[in-house]
Amino acid sequence: MPGLIVVGSQWGDEGKGKVVDVFSAESDYVVRYQGGANAGHTLVVDGKKRVLHLIPSGILHSKTICIIASGVVLDIEQLYKEISALKETGMLTDPRQLLISDGATVLLPHHRALDLAREKALKNEKIGTTGKGIGPAYEDKASRRALLFGDLFGPADQLKHTLEKSLKEKNFLLEKFYGEKPFSAEELLAPIQKFSKLLEPHREKDASFVIDQALKAGRRVLFEGAQGSLLDLNHGTYPFVTSSSTIAGSACIGAAIGPGKIESVVGITKAYTTRVGSGPFPTELTNDLGAKIQEKGGEFGATTGRPRRCGWLDLVALRYAIRINGLTSIALMKLDVLSGLDEIRVGTHYKGDKGEALTDFPMRSRELHNVQPVYETHKAWAEDISQVTSFDDLPEAAKNYVYYIEKALGTPVDVVSVGPARDQTLWRKSLFK
Ligand code: GDP
Ligand code: IMO
Ligand code: MG
Repeated sequence: MPGLIVVGSQWGDEGKGKVVDVFSAESDYVVRYQGGANAGHTLVVDGKKRVLHLIPSGILHSKTICIIASGVVLDIEQLYKEISALKETGMLTDPRQLLISDGATVLLPHHRALDLAREKALKNEKIGTTGKGIGPAYEDKASRRALLFGDLFGPADQLKHTLEKSLKEKNFLLEKFYGEKPFSAEELLAPIQKFSKLLEPHREKDASFVIDQALKAGRRVLFEGAQGSLLDLNHGTYPFVTSSSTIAGSACIGAAIGPGKIESVVGITKAYTTRVGSGPFPTELTNDLGAKIQEKGGEFGATTGRPRRCGWLDLVALRYAIRINGLTSIALMKLDVLSGLDEIRVGTHYKGDKGEALTDFPMRSRELHNVQPVYETHKAWAEDISQVTSFDDLPEAAKNYVYYIEKALGTPVDVVSVGPARDQTLWRKSLFK
């Protein structure tokens, strides 16, 4: 029963793509179960960088089958672009290496347009979305007007009818509320037909069945989360969140797998914290040091190119992530970025507006805006650690930082990453039991 969930434990961009690519060498299947092309997962292999938005990060391993499950909102145009880019470099030669569930929600240009129109209208209260149409597509799903991937291969009149249901409402908003251009069913149908034909070889009517069969046969299945725990629609820093549930439980829902099939949940955690878009961020560094970490860590969005806000590690937020995901271990990423700092700080708890100590993550964004982090200071190390190949060879101060984190969080750090490439990964314990 080796089901393993990989989940971001902060505000996204923790390094999930790298970890999933590395873990995929030992995985038979990799499943994306939520989110859409708002994700930007970076893989660096043989010095070549690739960013995947919709395709699971196991795809560079030709023996690993990648599945896009029903919980995903699927931008068919973007997906086709990603498939083409992989094929151009000789990857994905067998279309059955990438399976798309019939239940995935189809994301279309009018969803993107509405996302952008809403953000524009919010002026200085923007969420800071990626503009990829994620919210409007999930709304269609929740209000039962969405086109599902399987619908693209059904009767043409029914497809048109469902599309018109979505357009009727979205066009009203676009045109009458936001003063933007509406879309006609005809202009959307032509690309839908084109892309559905191109994507049909990847069609999988019952992805949940495929995954269940694999788990029953003892195959290793890795569930790849997108975004991060604090961007979860239900339990994140609402309203500054994404429109899907990003926590580990979402893997079971998005892929239709019983929770009993999951053996472990790995929380991908940056050795510091970043956030892109608006919303509270207690340990944010708005000074030169924040800019230095941003530059050294290359902290610019993989999807939008926006600079990521940077700050210290936040143990209050991480304790919350451990709780809501049931993390069994942590992969600590980008430890190399902290080399050469004068000192390293860690937020251990917050002070509320009355000076009271808060050890639990406040549930309301407004409350989180008003807390003051309390820090503990740690010794830094001067050495470049990016070429270190074993955990034992790290400088004492770097090892102590890792020991401190696992003790403070009561959760083992099984993997430490010291660079974007596959071999810049220090294993302290093997992945699958
Ligand atoms: P994801 O969304 O969680 O997959 O993360 P992103 O790909 O958006 O951002 C992580 C960035 O950090 C990418 O540019 C990775 O190539 C890079 N990266 C991953 N792990 C490490 C690491 O250990 N050290 C350094 N320096 N970069 C890393
Ligand atoms: P990966 O998978 C970081 C953020 C956006 C915005 C909020 C809502 O690469 O970690 P949305 O477009 O989803 O409606 O935007 O969520 N966001 C991400 N931040 N990494 C991501 O994905 C993100 N996906 C969405 O910046 O604040
Ligand atoms: Mg990313």
